[in-house]
Amino acid sequence: MEIKRKMFFLSVITPIICLCSGAILVSGQVNNSTAADADTLEQGKRIYARECSSCHGDRGKGDGPAAIAMVPKPRDLAKVTANKNDDRFFLKISGGASSMPAYKGVLSDIQIRQVIAYIRTLGASSKTAGDRP
Ligand code: HEC
Repeated sequence: MEIKRKMFFLSVITPIICLCSGAILVSGQVNNSTAADADTLEQGKRIYARECSSCHGDRGKGDGPAAIAMVPKPRDLAKVTANKNDDRFFLKISGGASSMPAYKGVLSDIQIRQVIAYIRTLGASSKTAGDRP
């Protein structure tokens, strides 16, 4: 009896547990859910030019005019966007980080999502330019 129960656990319950944890892992990874349609990107680009490029530079390289004397320097957005998810960026942008101001109250949640969608395109373009290690 006892052995049968163990076999049942191994053959039925274990695969179910594996499938579920797999699904959780996968859903954790596809968290970059901002719908990047043309309108979103256009809005994001405008917000970026107005609010972010003075420090992060036109292409997100961290070489904007306001960043010259800054320590730490704004990171190369083309590189950081590759391995971080939208929620992390959302927290950073709304809450600020070192010399970067907090945008909560300056930009709406939707505007922050739009600018995140836009900075992801900076990463994509630098990748095709062979800019990544
Ligand atoms: C006054 C200069 C300044 C402005 C304006 C600015 N940033 Fe930053 N940003 C920084 C600096 C400096 C860092 C690096 C902070 C650190 O690592 O402590 C940074 C970091 C970041 C990061 C990386 C966070 C991470 O996970 O490593 C993102 C994303 C970002 N900024 C997005 C934006 C966006 C989007 C805007 C415009 C809405 C913006 N920043 C405006 C200075 C600025």
